[in-house]
Amino acid sequence: MSDFQINSFKEYQEEYNKSIVNPEQFWENIAEDFIWKSKWDKVLEWNFSEPKIKWFKNAKFNITENIFERNLPEKANEIAYHWEPNNPVDKQKSYTYNELFIEVQKCANLLKSYGVKKGDRVGLYMPMIIELPIAVLACARIGAIHSVVFAGFSANALADRLNDAEAVFLFTSNELFRGAKSMDVKSLVDEALKNCPTVKNVAVVEISEKTYNKVPNRDFSYQKELAKQSVICPAEIMDAEDPLFILYTSGSTGKPKGVVHSCGGYMVYTAYTFSNVFQYKKGDIYWCTADIGWITGHSYIIYGPLLCGASSVLFEGIPTFPHNGRFWEVIDKYKVNQFYTAPTAIRALMACDDTLSKNPSLKSLKVLGTVGEPINEEAWQWYFKNIGKANCPIVDTWWQTETGGIMISGLGNLSPQKPTFAGYPLPGIQAVLLDQEGNEINENDQEGYLCVKFPWPGMLRTTYGDHERCRHTYFSNYKNYYFTGDGAKRDENGMFRIIGRVDDVINVSGHRFGTAEIENAINKAENVIESAVVGYPHPIKGQSIYAFVKLDSSENELEIERSYILDCVVNEIGKIAVPEKIQFVDDLPKTRSGKIMRRILRKIAESDSDNQQENNFGDTSTLIDPSVVDKLIAGKL
Ligand code: WT7
Repeated sequence: MSDFQINSFKEYQEEYNKSIVNPEQFWENIAEDFIWKSKWDKVLEWNFSEPKIKWFKNAKFNITENIFERNLPEKANEIAYHWEPNNPVDKQKSYTYNELFIEVQKCANLLKSYGVKKGDRVGLYMPMIIELPIAVLACARIGAIHSVVFAGFSANALADRLNDAEAVFLFTSNELFRGAKSMDVKSLVDEALKNCPTVKNVAVVEISEKTYNKVPNRDFSYQKELAKQSVICPAEIMDAEDPLFILYTSGSTGKPKGVVHSCGGYMVYTAYTFSNVFQYKKGDIYWCTADIGWITGHSYIIYGPLLCGASSVLFEGIPTFPHNGRFWEVIDKYKVNQFYTAPTAIRALMACDDTLSKNPSLKSLKVLGTVGEPINEEAWQWYFKNIGKANCPIVDTWWQTETGGIMISGLGNLSPQKPTFAGYPLPGIQAVLLDQEGNEINENDQEGYLCVKFPWPGMLRTTYGDHERCRHTYFSNYKNYYFTGDGAKRDENGMFRIIGRVDDVINVSGHRFGTAEIENAINKAENVIESAVVGYPHPIKGQSIYAFVKLDSSENELEIERSYILDCVVNEIGKIAVPEKIQFVDDLPKTRSGKIMRRILRKIAESDSDNQQENNFGDTSTLIDPSVVDKLIAGKL
């Protein structure tokens, strides 16, 4: 593999030390592994106060040349992707690096033929079909900024994101399959585009015979247009700091923000972390089950693996279709060596008594990975014993949309492991714990706010169209630190365990939502005066959404109200954000200044109805009316 793959824990420690003593030199060495049209004047220029972050200043290159030209001809006939369809009765298809390269260039030329150019934003709202990574890479080839929107989001959510990015072009499909269901994505797109004046053209990948509405001069068949394109498209020369993509993610305020990653640092970081965390070796088959609509798919289905010349499985389906053993069947079918999934999937499968009933062999597995939320001990043990047969290390990879790549994790079988602990920071990552006052906690066996005190190449550069928001969200809580929003514990050996979010972000099945975002959706429902949303523990989803809702009169028909509210959330965000519980209340616990005391709501939502008496609500004297607490408890669902 690449020159930068670490081979022992001792080597990890040495590399880590080097990366702290001289970060610039450390990352410069790694960057030497890539092809650049011209190299940097300076490895790093930064401050966290604006923030301003420049890695590989003034270097010129293109990330797709590092995937294709750099890996070819050696990898020309090796598999880039084994595409596995949603329904196993459909034909699987494998793509070599050469085949993928041709498709990417044709698609890049298609974009050009519609006038898309460097710096333009391109939206993608698609199933997990091969055209998705192809279109993403086609954007990168010509320097257009891709913005993938997870196809589970609603038409409104899609429109918000396309408008914020001022996208000029959209890729979609005529249909989307998810298990036994089919979704009419094109109608959703039509709905969204009623309110997106900047989108001039829509390429529709026809994945089935299903007919669809073709808006003249706007929509066209991807396949038909692709067939006309030349197979050669020279790569646009990009600056290392030019944006590569925007990916929207939720935070504590209502509006999702467009996290912007830049070309150079992101390339170096995703390749380095992929190679090291998964300990990918030549000939291995790697499978990440995430959707490309999330950062995990960007970094560890597309960029990281392809930069390293890896062979991956690209899976269109879901773990439970056509049966609960589908994941294991796919692992055996392709002899997967590295398998990367989410705790919520592990827990869901663990809860099916038949998931292992077909006795899958699973012998090919070498490394198991998890990502997206803290993994509980029970799920960790089940994964380790039943899937890894107690022979495979589990890399519990902690990172975020904003970090671009994995930050804290074991490295394959090299690192010591401890269930529920993500482990040690990767080389280059100066992770620290801060106390309430913002002081670094130097002792071990302590908990604190997880922050990072030095830049790493994969970090976000801005939030699209609103740099101040980036500064405020990540760099203002603690001066000179990047604030992650997570709480963490460091054990006596310096290993990190992620506890969870300390801000108003809820993580449902590994999907991130801001409480304000969900409240805004709920408040659109008729008769709703106000609402407050909190997360509470859920055995499979990790967290689930609990909404406290105040209506304008007590005479409302509650069942009808409930369905209005659910419709609003589905319309504004999507089914994935629907509250599991809605409690109608007369009042919310508010302080005199009008602030809702979420701490109280969280406590109520988190504990069993029978144990509320044991709850210590702390000081409730600042509430306008402390008696609301008892009423809330009495109405607990
Ligand atoms: C948040 C980021 C990174 C890709 C998927 C999610 C939580 C992520 C872990 C982990 C405990 C984790 C954190 C983080 N998280 N990985 N291994 N252990 N928590 O990306 O949507 O940006 O969410 O997910 O709370 O802040 P995201």
